[in-house]
Amino acid sequence: MKYLYEFSRMTETIKIHDKKFRKFISSVKIQKAIGKIAGRINADFRNKKPIFLSVLNGSFLFAADLLKKVNVECEISFIKVASYSGTKSSGKVIKLIGLNENLRGRTVIILEDIVDTGNTLENVLQELKAHHPEKIIIATLFFKPKAYKKKIKLDYIGIEMPNEFLVGYGLDYDGLGRNFPDIYTLKT
Ligand code: IMP
Ligand code: MG
Repeated sequence: MKYLYEFSRMTETIKIHDKKFRKFISSVKIQKAIGKIAGRINADFRNKKPIFLSVLNGSFLFAADLLKKVNVECEISFIKVASYSGTKSSGKVIKLIGLNENLRGRTVIILEDIVDTGNTLENVLQELKAHHPEKIIIATLFFKPKAYKKKIKLDYIGIEMPNEFLVGYGLDYDGLGRNFPDIYTLKT
């Protein structure tokens, strides 16, 4: 059987599909960053009964690890961003799928794996506003400030990253690598 990724403990490099990656951020550092976000959320949202919305697929590990450290009364739900080719000339139409909760008057905390250009986040926000929540808060585990093109304020940021392609801890390269507990970057 041929594995699509190979792992070397000595060099801490991995191969996924055709590319080599090297370990960049350890799981220990990631968990510390998540602990800090959880601490701030616990202080800021007592008695607010927030609803967390985890944007799949990338944020599944972040959502799971964060929620284990959150101790305020809260709900969690999972959404996906689906894009369709619209019939109008404007092209792409974005829809949120999986949202069954009534958000009217609620405090919503969006959980993102990574904010890169900010396009996805802008689309999610636009869709969510139509559900009339009282407040929308954004928590992202990773952020690439040099790639960011929007003005939307990010309320909680775990770790700032260089403008490089990353894989691991929820992030994939062509479907693979989401399961790694650490973050890897392309080997140059
Ligand atoms: P944005 O719309 O440009 O902000 O990108 C957001 C989405 O692109 C993220 O939620 C990820 O799913 C994906 N993405 C952005 N940067 C990376 C990366 O370095 N590795 C893997 N996926 C990424
Ligand atoms: Mg994502």
